[in-house]
Amino acid sequence: MDTPDSDIVFQSYGRCCNNPQFFVDFYDRFMGSSDEIRAMFRDTNMPQQRHLLRNGIMQLILVARGMPETKLRALGASHSRKGYNIRPELYSVWLDALLHTVARHDPQFSGEIDGAWRRAIQPGIDLIRNAY
Ligand code: HEM
Repeated sequence: MDTPDSDIVFQSYGRCCNNPQFFVDFYDRFMGSSDEIRAMFRDTNMPQQRHLLRNGIMQLILVARGMPETKLRALGASHSRKGYNIRPELYSVWLDALLHTVARHDPQFSGEIDGAWRRAIQPGIDLIRNAY
């Protein structure tokens, strides 16, 4: 039987998390994608933010594996127009930066793994984005 996407992603993320540089490279890529995004993190404590993102990505994966959505709902609220005011279009930039970074850090990366990530975490991303 085929391995479920969420198992493929769980293992791929484990390989990425072996190297803390993964999160440095993600934010370099994400903030490098536009001046608007860079400006959003101007006053951010980046070591702390990298740690928070590590947990945030894990939440996306855990929801894909059937865990409760409570923490993603809180991220939906913090990122909404009443919070950080993250426009819905910016989530595709976020996802592209993530997969670009996974491709560089997961030694087993492949088209299959790329597809598994996109399919597995899109519902969780949509949950956050739709709270805008
Ligand atoms: C599904 C994708 C995303 C995840 C999982 C995620 C995760 C997180 C987490 C865990 C935090 C810290 C907790 C909090 O403040 O609520 C955070 C803060 C933040 N995120 Fe996101 N985020 C995502 C997408 C985005 C996008 C697309 C942007 C902007 C283009 C963005 C901008 C920010 C900003 C500005 C903060 C606050 C930084 C600060 O405290 O100075 N996020 N995000």
